[in-house]
Amino acid sequence: MRTLIEHGTVVGASDAYEADLLVEGEKIALVGQGLGRYLEKVDRTIDAKGKYLLPGGIDAHTHLDMPFGGTKSADDFESGTVAAACGGTTTVIDFAIQPQGGALAEGLEAWHRKAEGKAAIDYGFHLIVRDVNPQTLAEMDRLVKHEGVTSFKLFTAYPGVFLVDDAQIFRAMQKTGENGGLVCMHAENGPVIDVLTKQALEKGHVTPKWHALTRPARLEAEATNRVIALAEVAHAPVYIVHLSAAEALAEVREARDRGVEAYAETCPQYLFLSDDSYDEPGFDGAKYVMSPPLRPKGNERALWQGLRQDDLQLVSTDHCPFCMKEQKELGKSDFSKIPNGAPGLETRMSLLWDGGVRAKQIDLCRYVQLTSAAPAKLFGLYGRKGTLAPGADADIVVFDPEKRLTLSAKTLHMNVDYNPYEGRQVTGAPETVLSRGEVVVEGGRFVGKKGRGKFLRRAARQVG
Ligand code: URP
Ligand code: ZN
Ligand code: ZN
Repeated sequence: MRTLIEHGTVVGASDAYEADLLVEGEKIALVGQGLGRYLEKVDRTIDAKGKYLLPGGIDAHTHLDMPFGGTKSADDFESGTVAAACGGTTTVIDFAIQPQGGALAEGLEAWHRKAEGKAAIDYGFHLIVRDVNPQTLAEMDRLVKHEGVTSFKLFTAYPGVFLVDDAQIFRAMQKTGENGGLVCMHAENGPVIDVLTKQALEKGHVTPKWHALTRPARLEAEATNRVIALAEVAHAPVYIVHLSAAEALAEVREARDRGVEAYAETCPQYLFLSDDSYDEPGFDGAKYVMSPPLRPKGNERALWQGLRQDDLQLVSTDHCPFCMKEQKELGKSDFSKIPNGAPGLETRMSLLWDGGVRAKQIDLCRYVQLTSAAPAKLFGLYGRKGTLAPGADADIVVFDPEKRLTLSAKTLHMNVDYNPYEGRQVTGAPETVLSRGEVVVEGGRFVGKKGRGKFLRRAARQVG
């Protein structure tokens, strides 16, 4: 199958230029001008005049079909990846979880079973490590060397669920320092948050906004500082996930300025929403219960600056949707029982285009870097993903910069009964999306097949 995409503007992380793309089978075969003149036969032609041709988005932080807080995230690998494709994301890296008392391999197996036969786009896995011991340390080597799982998430939060102590974090970092893997850290001080939560509940503070009031930015900054110090002593890189606050960013910047290999991502919710949302009427503040929580207005200015200056390298979503009905409602009379997380997988590319590129916070190339090239490099997919060069997988977004969308749970494809951006108008959306050469979205509609997505064996990170 040969597809010629003509007259578009090809955008990469370092330049943008008018060109055509020839796709042969699953790969990009040629990039050049006036390709039609040299080709005798193509099976399909896509006219991309006035459109940008972007490398498919890579969302390096999703939680599909994830058990949490007595329920599980509302999108599985089918609905989640269909939504991702519609939003211009062609690769997700999801978090498999080590079962309590079990092996990392069991968690990985379980996530393979969740994704196989369901995923509509390609996917990889990080592994959440709940228990660092000689066996799991040996398993980390095996995952990096033989299973294509080269990154691990550890938590300084959620005591009794995910929290590991500093010694365990340090041991895991020493291991990735040796084997080329990457430790991703959820950095909030969980034990202190638990004290604040208990004290708030004792005083009868049960509403959703207390989720934010008991998770101050200072405790994110403290944990960020701590895990960076641990990585420094372990001679290992560290990646801070879902960074939300200016104070935490300052810790990353300070470390990077000293030459420490610290990386960090932020998420659209921290760029486009604020803790004002917790004051929505009734129980609606629960829509925004996530960890870290939304921060006061002003933090987003620092985050945009961080994105421009490369103190933040990625924008991922932390997509972890729970319906208001029956899921978020579990915490109706106790905010600490509200499942943590919100939907975002489908809206990332349009929100960041509208509020980033159109609003002149970032330029076109930085947009591609943040949404595709950098995640590909940091998580060992570059060359195959993250670029529109010959030989790369033909994961291509034909992006219409003028297309207007009104974001709404009713029209989006995520399997969740609300949207945090309900009613927000954005300009810029995918028109056509190809995943390994196959058109999976046409005219904004999903036309692909569930189960066609392939597991991606990732290499070690490609930047240092
Ligand atoms: O609230 C969040 N972030 N839920 C998902 C789990 C995590 O910590 O990333
Ligand atoms: Zn987390
Ligand atoms: Zn997460």
